[in-house]
Amino acid sequence: MTTRTFTDDQLRRIGGLKWTGIRAKDGSPTIGAWVAEMDFGTDPQVADTMKSAIDDGLLGYQPTWLAEHVSEALAQFERCRFGWELDPAHIRLAESVLLALRATISHLVRPGAPIIVPTPNYMPFLTMPGELGHPVIEVPSLHGEAAHGRGWELDLDGIRAAFEEGAGLLILCNPWNPTGRVLSAEELRAVHAVVSDYDALLFSDEIHAPLVFDDSSAFISYARLGPEFAARTVTATAASKGWNIAGLPCAQVILPDEALRQRWDEFGSEVAHGASTIGALGAITAFTHDDSWQREVLSDVRANVDLVEDALAGTPVDFTRPQATYLTWWGFGAVPLEPSPAAVLRERAHVATNAGVTLGTGYEQWARFNLACSNDVTSRIIESVLGVLPR
Ligand SMILES: Cc1ncc(COP(=O)(O)O)c(C=O)c1O
Repeated sequence: MTTRTFTDDQLRRIGGLKWTGIRAKDGSPTIGAWVAEMDFGTDPQVADTMKSAIDDGLLGYQPTWLAEHVSEALAQFERCRFGWELDPAHIRLAESVLLALRATISHLVRPGAPIIVPTPNYMPFLTMPGELGHPVIEVPSLHGEAAHGRGWELDLDGIRAAFEEGAGLLILCNPWNPTGRVLSAEELRAVHAVVSDYDALLFSDEIHAPLVFDDSSAFISYARLGPEFAARTVTATAASKGWNIAGLPCAQVILPDEALRQRWDEFGSEVAHGASTIGALGAITAFTHDDSWQREVLSDVRANVDLVEDALAGTPVDFTRPQATYLTWWGFGAVPLEPSPAAVLRERAHVATNAGVTLGTGYEQWARFNLACSNDVTSRIIESVLGVLPR
């Protein structure tokens, strides 16, 4: 199997958000290096499943048998890919990871309790809690020498201080969008040592777990580390990033703890209701079929990461090699680009990235780059970045 690649014109004609959603002020189209979509289409097996459902007219309301099939498929995936033995009866369907987070905050967290977001982090984590009446406490993560050779590390003292202020939930993103870190079991245990001192929960967003580069066994779910971890944890995942089907919402919530699961089941049907039937069927195929397409995607993305790492070595751009996901995090603090790297790249080089400030306060001179693209696009992104750096 080979992953499909498209020209810029084809990608714009196909019309995905990544290649059509951002234009320069003069109207010029941009190279799409921002939102978490891939330029590789999807796994042909996943596509075939979804096409058959359309051909068969399976386009009505969510059938009652579907959730159980998704749970079984995810349990199989977690066992085969990561070695986590999960009971399918402990898995619930959700429309999306973000809706699962919204429900967690609304129903399981003390009213008004602050929500801890280690930054940099996925943009909606910073805005959604406020919409629900929960202030966000941003905890900037450790970087550089302070991160003990890991590139990026959670600031556990900062997280503890936030719990001392009364926080009710810690949002953990593992693998970590945008740094690409896969947190080790040792790091997760250290997080638990903090969380367990408080009356608080943890939301573990593992949506990027299918995209671990080198050794999937390196990835470990927080809730898998023991019943005392699971008792305080809502884990959410989906096939949407790993197989590029985010427009067909379907996610899963893993709740091995009986008491927490019972609480979830009081409102869970409203979270599951909007999951798309075709998205769920795609997820089942994604989780249970041969993974050769995804391995190829990972090898393509890794080759792009190699290119970026080589090209940026010796430049002032701060880049830590990711362990997972095609989202990458580039720092321009040593050569500030005003008003922001994302704006400069968009206007001067017609490359669309995510502005760092949307991923956390203090990251004004950072940008998030999506490397789920061809080698050629990666080379042009690199050229553009080198071209806007002050000489
Ligand atoms: C870390 C993370 N969580 C959640 C999402 C969105 O997932 P969903 O569409 O299931 O809400 C994304 C999308 O990019 C993401 O990167």
